[in-house]
Amino acid sequence: MKILVTGGAGFIGSAVVRLAVSRGHEVVNLDALTYAANPANVAPVADSPLYRFEHADIRDRAALDRIFAEHAPDAVMHLAAESHVDRSIDGPAAFMETNVTGTFHLLEAARSYWLAKGRPDTFRFHHVSTDEVFGSLGETGLFTEETAYDPRSPYSASKAASDHLVRAWGETYGLPVVLSNCSNNYGPYHFPEKLIPVVILNALHGQPIPVYGAGRNVRDWLYVEDHADALLTVLQDGALGRSYNIGGNNERANIDLVRDLCAILDRLRPDAAPHGDLITFVADRPGHDLRYAIDASRIRDELGWQPSVTLQEGLERTVRWYLENEDWWRPLLSRDGVGTRLGIGS
Ligand SMILES: NC(=O)c1ccc[n+]([C@@H]2O[C@H](COP(=O)([O-])OP(=O)(O)OC[C@H]3O[C@@H](n4cnc5c(N)ncnc54)[C@H](O)[C@@H]3O)[C@@H](O)[C@H]2O)c1
Repeated sequence: MKILVTGGAGFIGSAVVRLAVSRGHEVVNLDALTYAANPANVAPVADSPLYRFEHADIRDRAALDRIFAEHAPDAVMHLAAESHVDRSIDGPAAFMETNVTGTFHLLEAARSYWLAKGRPDTFRFHHVSTDEVFGSLGETGLFTEETAYDPRSPYSASKAASDHLVRAWGETYGLPVVLSNCSNNYGPYHFPEKLIPVVILNALHGQPIPVYGAGRNVRDWLYVEDHADALLTVLQDGALGRSYNIGGNNERANIDLVRDLCAILDRLRPDAAPHGDLITFVADRPGHDLRYAIDASRIRDELGWQPSVTLQEGLERTVRWYLENEDWWRPLLSRDGVGTRLGIGS
C-alpha cells in the first residue's frame, strides 16, 4: 500500500513511518518541519526506496493537490498537528490554523483526488486524534467511543473540531474515513518539552524536575511503537466511518510516573543523591484535566489489537534510549521554548 503520512517527522508520525516501511509499505512523509519535527526521527528509513519526503504545509492547498497527483496514495494517515497543550495556552492561533484549517484543506485535497480517481471505496483517510477531546474524568470511569466530546484546552478543542470535520466529510461526501483517539504516548524520539523526556533530561543534568500542581493528574500511557502498530491496524482493518479508542491500560498519576523514572535512572545512571530529590512541585497548568483513561475494548474485540509493552518495560526502554542517544536530543534543547515554563496563562 502507498500511504501519505502527514506529520511523519514528528514523534508518533515518525514511528508510523518507520513501522510502515519496515512492513513493506511505500510511504510519502508530508511535513512542514516545525519546531517539533526532526528529520533524524526518520533516519532509519531515509535511504529506503519505499520512502519519500515532501516538505509541505497542510494549509497549502496547491502543494497538497500536487502531492496527491504526483504520488497517487492509496491512503492518508493524518498526524500533522500542533500538539503541545502548554503552547496552545500561550498561542492558540497556530493550533486553529494547523489543526482545524489545515485538516480542512487536507480533507478537501483528499476529496478532490478521490473524486478524480472515481471514488474508490478502498481509499482511506485515517484521522489520528487524542483522548483529550473527551475532557476530564473523575476518579472513576473510562472514555468510550460514545463519550460526549468536552474539550477543555485550545489544543483539545482544535483536535475535537478536526474530528468533527473528518466525520462530516465522511457523512456528507462519502469520503472513506476512519478515526482513532489515543491516550498519552511515550517512547524514543519524544520531543524534549513533554513530561517524560523533561524528567529524564532534567534528572541527567541535576536540574529540578518540575511536576505540575500536586502531580495527581492521571494519564493512560501507551508506548509509541504500540500506537504505530494500532494505527496501521485501524487503517487496514477499521470499519468505514468508525472510530477506535486506543490506550495502554496503564493509568498512572504523574507523580508516580516521575518517581518510577527516577528509580530507573537511580539504577542505570546512579548519582550521589537519589534523582527523586530533584522533584519540584510547580504552579499547575490552567484547566489541567484531572484524569484520562481509555476503554480500548472496541479495538481489541473488533480488530484484535492489544498493547504489547508494559509501562515498566516501556519506561525502561525509553530511559535507555535517551541515555544512548544524546546526539539526538542535545541539539533540540536549544529550540524555541524548550526548557522554559510554558502555558501558565495570564
Ligand atoms: N503525543 C501524544 O501523546 C498524542 C496522543 C494522542 C494523539 N496524538 C496526536 O497524534 C498526532 C501526532 O502527535 P505527535 O506527538 O507526534 O506530535 P509532534 O508535535 O511530535 O509532531 C507533529 C508533526 O506535525 C508537523 N506539522 C505541524 N504543523 C504542520 C503543518 N501545518 N503542515 C505539515 N506538518 C505540520 C510537525 O512538523 C511535526 O513533525 C497529532 O495529531 C496529535 O494530536 C498525540
